[in-house]
Amino acid sequence: MADMLEAPSEGAWGVRLENGYFAVIQKAGFRSVRIPVAFQIHALGNPPYTIDTNFFGRVDGAVKSALDCGLAVVIDLHHYGELRKEPEKHRARFLSIWDRIARHYQNYPDTVYFELFNEPGEGLSPVVWNALVAQTLRVVRQSNPKRAVIIDAPEWANIDGLEKLRLPENDRNLIVTCHYYNPFEFTHQGAVWIGPRADAWLGTRWPSGQVQLTAIQRDFDKIQAWSKLNKRPIYLGEFGAYSKADMKSRASWTAYVARQCEERGFSWAYWEFCSGFGAYDPPARVWREPLLKALVAPPQQ
Ligand code: BGC
Repeated sequence: MADMLEAPSEGAWGVRLENGYFAVIQKAGFRSVRIPVAFQIHALGNPPYTIDTNFFGRVDGAVKSALDCGLAVVIDLHHYGELRKEPEKHRARFLSIWDRIARHYQNYPDTVYFELFNEPGEGLSPVVWNALVAQTLRVVRQSNPKRAVIIDAPEWANIDGLEKLRLPENDRNLIVTCHYYNPFEFTHQGAVWIGPRADAWLGTRWPSGQVQLTAIQRDFDKIQAWSKLNKRPIYLGEFGAYSKADMKSRASWTAYVARQCEERGFSWAYWEFCSGFGAYDPPARVWREPLLKALVAPPQQ
């Protein structure tokens, strides 16, 4: 459900969250949604860092609608770029925001998951991130002793960051997440936020030959080896190919990545529902069939 509640204001990035979408998602065969939310945009800049009640209400409406449809929900704190740049300056505010979110949702069912921070990088080096995770968990655990919390791998949730992740050993209700966009030149061709080099990648296909399949398998073997060694479950919280790539390649890459997850027992979330990578076309109110089929088997009639 991207580009909605994590946009500077809802609608600013062209899509709005309609609570009716959750039924569409559930009926199509999905069992969970990841909702990126920029609570930090709606919180005071200074103590006590209160989060705007109207915005909380907006998020609650979405979470409740998803739960009512039987979907599990990941509440993902997204796009807090200032924390990434200046962790020390924003640490107290971030912890307070999480204290508020955690207390707010403490009585929600255990099918609500918290994801502390999307894609730590820049000033949130692996060492700084590991320390912040431990500290944030101490805050969250005061009100949610058992809830499953999702932790991003260091280095932008990249699979190579996994080996630098250090988690509190005694907290066993943690799920580790990484994001997968390899080959990047294929998945991010023409993506404006990447800059002009992404235009040079336009036309890159993903032919699903043995070379391509093996490259993905190797990456997933690496994730699985880390998961087994560290006894932590994996959630592939983002993967997708941007709309500028050809649909045939997008669908075969998406299907292959989703099956790699399933074969290894990883849960996954496709990036994303109805914006630039969208599996769903909001004006037409239809799924993009090749992507939907790639993600989930057709629902039983
Ligand atoms: C970022 C998005 C971006 C996506 C794919 C996400 O984690 O927050 O802005 O579209 O990754 O690059």
